[in-house]
Amino acid sequence: MNDLSNYRKSYEKSELLENQIPEDPMNLFNRWFYEVEEFGGVGEVNAMTVSTIGLDGFPKARVVLLKKFYEEGFVFYTNYDSEKGKAILNNPNICLSFFWHSMERQVIIKGIAEKTPVNISDHYFSSRPNGSKLGAIVSPQSQIIPSREYLTQKLTELEKQYEGKEIPRPENWGGFLVRPVSVEFWQGRPNRLHDRIRYTLQNDYSWKIERLAP
Ligand SMILES: Cc1cc2nc3c(=O)[nH]c(=O)nc-3n(C[C@H](O)[C@H](O)[C@H](O)COP(=O)(O)O)c2cc1C
Repeated sequence: MNDLSNYRKSYEKSELLENQIPEDPMNLFNRWFYEVEEFGGVGEVNAMTVSTIGLDGFPKARVVLLKKFYEEGFVFYTNYDSEKGKAILNNPNICLSFFWHSMERQVIIKGIAEKTPVNISDHYFSSRPNGSKLGAIVSPQSQIIPSREYLTQKLTELEKQYEGKEIPRPENWGGFLVRPVSVEFWQGRPNRLHDRIRYTLQNDYSWKIERLAP
């Protein structure tokens, strides 16, 4: 038996009070993101968990890299034919979450995902190193493949095929923009009395701000 009941930590790094927060959650996300990057010592501050409701009815969560955030929302790139791609195209209500343990912070975003316009996906794809571009073409993400050699062989073939040539973005690879409808910020505090502030999008596009019990 692995009894983990003594794994316990007191959270004391920061606080999240109503008088410190902006009206728009994207501004608070921006502040937290760069504070974590600067002071947090997190390896990949832009690594987030993307949760979807699958075609099989089950939720599934996996880590993906956030590649852009701005007033409209959050952008990541993936294969549209992957398990998550199909799930999102069937049900665009998804959840993004970040756990920045070094700053004792969590952010949970519920939002509605849509494909980014093709020119945005093209632009990002063209900025990637050639190895990553070929990797995206080689890999039928989330499908069953016979072996690792299947990938390495395909990669060798494509390296020859595209030597000295522009590598095109596969049509089934691109971005999703997630427009947030709810953003919850969690700051760890002593004695389990953590700060939780939730922003909820209103019909007039303003944000309602509420404190939740930890
Ligand atoms: C740190 C990290 C970063 C990742 N970044 C991405 C990414 O940006 N896009 C992506 O499609 N998969 C990324 N993955 C792989 C996904 O976690 C997942 O294995 C893959 O997208 C297939 O998921 P699916 O079968 O649920 O669609 C990343 C994994 C890790 C651990």
